[in-house]
Amino acid sequence: MSHKLIAPSLLAADFANLQRDIELINTSEADWFHIDIMDGVFVPNISFGMPVLKAITAHAKKFIDVHLMIVDPDRYIKEFADLGADMLTVHYEACTHLHRSLQSIKQHGMQAGVALNPHTNIELLRDCISDIDMVCLMSVNPGFGGQHFIERTYEKVKQLKALITAENATTKIEIDGGVTNKNAKQLVDVGADVLVAGSYIFKAEHPLDTIVDLKKMINT
Ligand code: DX5
Ligand code: ZN
Repeated sequence: MSHKLIAPSLLAADFANLQRDIELINTSEADWFHIDIMDGVFVPNISFGMPVLKAITAHAKKFIDVHLMIVDPDRYIKEFADLGADMLTVHYEACTHLHRSLQSIKQHGMQAGVALNPHTNIELLRDCISDIDMVCLMSVNPGFGGQHFIERTYEKVKQLKALITAENATTKIEIDGGVTNKNAKQLVDVGADVLVAGSYIFKAEHPLDTIVDLKKMINT
């Protein structure tokens, strides 16, 4: 079984102490930084943009996983590459020409991810699954941290895992939203590879220990 990863979402960090929280993740056992970019159009919330991302990547020492919740993401692919994104994830629902967007992300030297809203059927990815490095299954409706995990997600992970296997692809499965110690183990057991966790880590009394416990739980 390959190593399962934890990606703390900086959306739940203390923005007035962002460098402190980034250093915390740098020294932790977490694997990636998950960074949520929201435009107030694709989702009913605005997070932060390029200048803040630039400040983050100046300090962050781990893999940078950028989750774009924006319309027409093609406009900014080059800029995200220049800012240091390692993985760039676009939403299926925001891309008219998804295949072209994926090619463009890779041409700019990044790995290409596709996020699916809770209502979007897995089957829609069959024709491009081999071009996708990671599928991010939203286990809440995107836009806000701290929401409740949607139980249907387990079934979607199973379906996606079956599709990836059937198509001989190597696509990773990421779960984003409402991840805690209550669902983490079950998620990796049905096929998840990367777990995003925002509030569960940053609102914890001891974030470093919380990360250690989560990692242990999903890798045993
Ligand atoms: C939601 C974001 C998530 C969010 C997860 O739209 O994509 O990454 O930060 O936060 P929690 O773990 O608090 O649900
Ligand atoms: Zn996210």
